[in-house]
Amino acid sequence: MSLPPGFLDELRTRLSMAQVAGRKVLWDTRKSNQGKGDMWAPCPFHQEKTASFHVDDRKGFYYCFGCHAKGDAISFVRETENVGFMEAVEILAREAGMTMPARDPRAQEKADKRAGLAEVMEMAVQHYRLQLKTAAGSAARDYLAGRGLTGEAQDRWEIGFAPDNRQGLLAHLKEKDVPEEQVIEAGLAAKPDDGGAAYDRFRGRIIFPIRDARGRAIGLGGRAMDPNARAKYLNSPETPLFDKGRSLYNHAPAREAAGKDQQLIVAEGYMDVIALAEAGFTATVAPLGTAITEDQLRLMWRIHPEPVIALDGDTAGLRAAMRLIDVAFPLLEAGHSLRFCLLPEGQDPDDLLKARGPGAMQELLDASLPMVQLLWRRETEGKVFDSPERKAALDADLRQSLRTIADPSVRSHYGDEIRRLRAELFGQNRPNFSRGRTWPPKGPVVQPATKATMLAAGDDATTDVLREAVILAALVTHPSLIERFESALETLDLTTHEHNEVRNALLRCNTREEIDAAAGTETLEKLFAPRHVRNAPGAREADGDDLAAQCIVEGLAKLSARRGADREIREAMEDLTELADEGVTWRLAQAAAAREKAGRSGQEDRTEFEVAPNGVRINREERDAFDKLLRDAGLSDAGERAEK
Ligand code: UTP
Ligand code: MN
Repeated sequence: MSLPPGFLDELRTRLSMAQVAGRKVLWDTRKSNQGKGDMWAPCPFHQEKTASFHVDDRKGFYYCFGCHAKGDAISFVRETENVGFMEAVEILAREAGMTMPARDPRAQEKADKRAGLAEVMEMAVQHYRLQLKTAAGSAARDYLAGRGLTGEAQDRWEIGFAPDNRQGLLAHLKEKDVPEEQVIEAGLAAKPDDGGAAYDRFRGRIIFPIRDARGRAIGLGGRAMDPNARAKYLNSPETPLFDKGRSLYNHAPAREAAGKDQQLIVAEGYMDVIALAEAGFTATVAPLGTAITEDQLRLMWRIHPEPVIALDGDTAGLRAAMRLIDVAFPLLEAGHSLRFCLLPEGQDPDDLLKARGPGAMQELLDASLPMVQLLWRRETEGKVFDSPERKAALDADLRQSLRTIADPSVRSHYGDEIRRLRAELFGQNRPNFSRGRTWPPKGPVVQPATKATMLAAGDDATTDVLREAVILAALVTHPSLIERFESALETLDLTTHEHNEVRNALLRCNTREEIDAAAGTETLEKLFAPRHVRNAPGAREADGDDLAAQCIVEGLAKLSARRGADREIREAMEDLTELADEGVTWRLAQAAAAREKAGRSGQEDRTEFEVAPNGVRINREERDAFDKLLRDAGLSDAGERAEK
């Protein structure tokens, strides 16, 4: 989506930076001078007791003298709410009472459809809530009271009741002129294949409304009252509105609570979330009747760096935890991980709170295990390592698991910890678990030649600067492409201060005139000064948007391939002293080769080169990066390319 000219300026004028920041910080009233818009507070971006965080409300900027965090209202929201640029703009626009500009027609249509379904869902939520209060709902109310939920709590959680009636909701919505197809599309009713009449999906069930991160009703969970019901819980099906794998029960309230320093807890079910929140553990979410997905993990990490997974202490719960390790490992990064809170066998958080109260729950949370411990338990518990073969098998399994951790630094710390645990189990006689002197028995040695290539950093830095410049220049001459590359642009590591300024201007502007004004002619002249930049395909005024887009994609791909390879090499070198095993040397050789190609495409090594649509040669690694960027940028031929 692109913003109309002046939209962001208008937004900035309407907003008070101090007000935006004021929700997250506690102003130091003695140091601040409100009249002058000169505000000070302890910094929300780093731990401190003094007030080094400064807001200049008149200019609309903040700067921290401690950690040097700086920016405007939009970057503040991006950082503190963990959202992207457009989402931050949306949040602020809503606050400022500005209407976001329309999206493209197809997206708009989709958004309208979802909005319509959300409205229907909301009507259903309210209808079911009313039913809970009628005579028909008395058994349900008794049941809920029996489970410790007062009337207020039932209201707080908007709990409802669907009487055992095939036409209850349908009739109600019909009266409100909601077309039957919409009720079906929202997943609230179903139509039998034999062409019979549509009927309510939820019957004889307690209803738990599911809302998205913005509070919109998107689905329902229904718990059977009848203990003999076929399924204890019936959830809304996947609909245009409800994507189970990307939603969390209690998302918005939990996010807010986690923002106030509450530990994020992940429970298994609706009743657990409610019981935990009612007991004061307000930052609690649950997946929706399925195992936790990658997307849900990402959502949780946006809320909190280290969610605690609270699981039934039974084998099923433990098995789920183990599976979650496999999902989480490839996604781990420094400072974001998981902990596991193991509940007594056969108890879920709801049971535990009832039996032993919040204090006991807190104790269990405090005793939660880091993921590495759980991995260790998974691989060792109940096994006897009384032979070299069994020990070797354990080593192999652990290696296999650790290899899936994508972040090298995290992986190496896992290696350390596993080595320690292993030493505890087997004694100190083999402390060099990952060092590979005795195991694996053989493996390639780092070739001096590889080393030489790796260390020949040469003038890659200059190449990087030029590549960045070409990408930025292409966007300056083709502003209509900015939106498409917004996220790439946001995350691009730029080498110079000027490039950063151009980037910031691009992110704020829609037209060449705006860019000129925002970046300043001097900065832009400097950008276009090198002949290589001025004449680069894509950066020339005469080039079409398509060519420019291809060139940008390619430039980004080359930068990321080069930088990825650089990082691999650096990290592998660090690893080398610790764990010189076949994996490291292999990766090192691969990375060196990839970097070699990325750095010198089109010159020496032509073996794997392909011709990109604009005639530039790229290699396989670059093409993969290229394809990913194409997909991210929504350029259509990515699918076809991947097929070939
Ligand atoms: P549990 O079986 O652990 O139930 O399912 P619970 O949460 O303890 O429920 P109560 O306390 O008996 O009321 C955990 C979650 O798994 C999903 C639901 O989301 C539930 O909250 N589930 C369970 C289903 O989707 N379908 C089922 O049949 C059972
Ligand atoms: Mn339960």
